[in-house]
Amino acid sequence: MSAQRKTVLVTGATGKQGGALIQSLLSSPDTAGFNIIAVTRDVASSRALKLGANFNVSVVDGDLAQPEAIFQKVSPVWGVYSVQVNSDAEEQQGMAIVDAAVAHGVRHFVYSSGDRGGPEKSPINPTKVKNFAAKYRIENYLMERAAASPQKMTYTILRPVTFFENLTTDIHGKGFARMWEQMGDKKLQFVSTRDIGRIAAYSFMHPHDYRNVALTLVGDELTQTEAEVMFKAAVGSPMPMAPCPVASTVKFLLKGTVGDMFRWFESEGYGGDVAACRQLYPGMKDFKAWIEENKGQWLST
Ligand SMILES: NC(=O)c1ccc[n+]([C@@H]2O[C@H](COP(=O)([O-])OP(=O)(O)OC[C@H]3O[C@@H](n4cnc5c(N)ncnc54)[C@H](OP(=O)(O)O)[C@@H]3O)[C@@H](O)[C@H]2O)c1
Repeated sequence: MSAQRKTVLVTGATGKQGGALIQSLLSSPDTAGFNIIAVTRDVASSRALKLGANFNVSVVDGDLAQPEAIFQKVSPVWGVYSVQVNSDAEEQQGMAIVDAAVAHGVRHFVYSSGDRGGPEKSPINPTKVKNFAAKYRIENYLMERAAASPQKMTYTILRPVTFFENLTTDIHGKGFARMWEQMGDKKLQFVSTRDIGRIAAYSFMHPHDYRNVALTLVGDELTQTEAEVMFKAAVGSPMPMAPCPVASTVKFLLKGTVGDMFRWFESEGYGGDVAACRQLYPGMKDFKAWIEENKGQWLST
């Protein structure tokens, strides 16, 4: 039985998107078809230990700086889920895991990228946002390497918009809320990381249907003022926000990253089709559903 299982190597397994993918695979009726390899730099962390307690999840110590070393431990791998964090190493890490996947005969590669203006613009629009441009180059590298691979590796590129999960109770979440509020009437597109994980899981369960495609993933688009009404109704108090000067200073000081990103949200912005995405994936969370499910974190502070 286990010999027939497909091994899926999940990077970012202890994080939001990779974690959501694993939860989706584990809760699917098809879960028995997969051996899940969860990659982490710290196998002793509480998140890693929790993952490892699941029947078909093996936790493997690995660093995206050396993907070849990860494959040496776990080959053969049928599928790879690839996500990197925003850093100067993002592009190199994102390309290196493509190389390792090709070298180790991987059949299906799912790359979690980011939307850059919708399905038409994203393939031709690196943008001036550093980590968006890194994703643009990784996508192109993946497509080229997959097409030239001996195994004709297939790929799915997921292009999520902003995560609802940026709204946290800490200073990062408060800063994010204020920067969103500073966008005024310009709507921002959102998606829940649980939905990203769900769709990543579909792409491993139905690789033929998700063969060589790129999908913008979006669940809602709204201004902070519109969200504020739903937030207050769910939580009973206003959305906590950092003071205006703090948010403006952060945007100024981090102009190469957060600052450029918010400028891009205002001047160009994501191009997902909310209605089409929700039709394709019924149950895709909008803000109302997301805050209803997640309000507990504000109620307990
Ligand atoms: N936030 C948004 O609104 C948004 C929207 C679109 C796209 N994105 C993109 O989403 C990505 C981040 O995804 P996420 O939010 O799901 O991540 P996350 O929750 O921040 O988790 C990061 C994960 O990456 C792992 N990791 C970090 N450095 C590593 C390394 N050198 N080697 C191996 N593993 C490493 C961590 O594992 P360990 O610590 O256990 O090793 C952890 O599992 C970024 O590229 C960002 O641009 C974000």
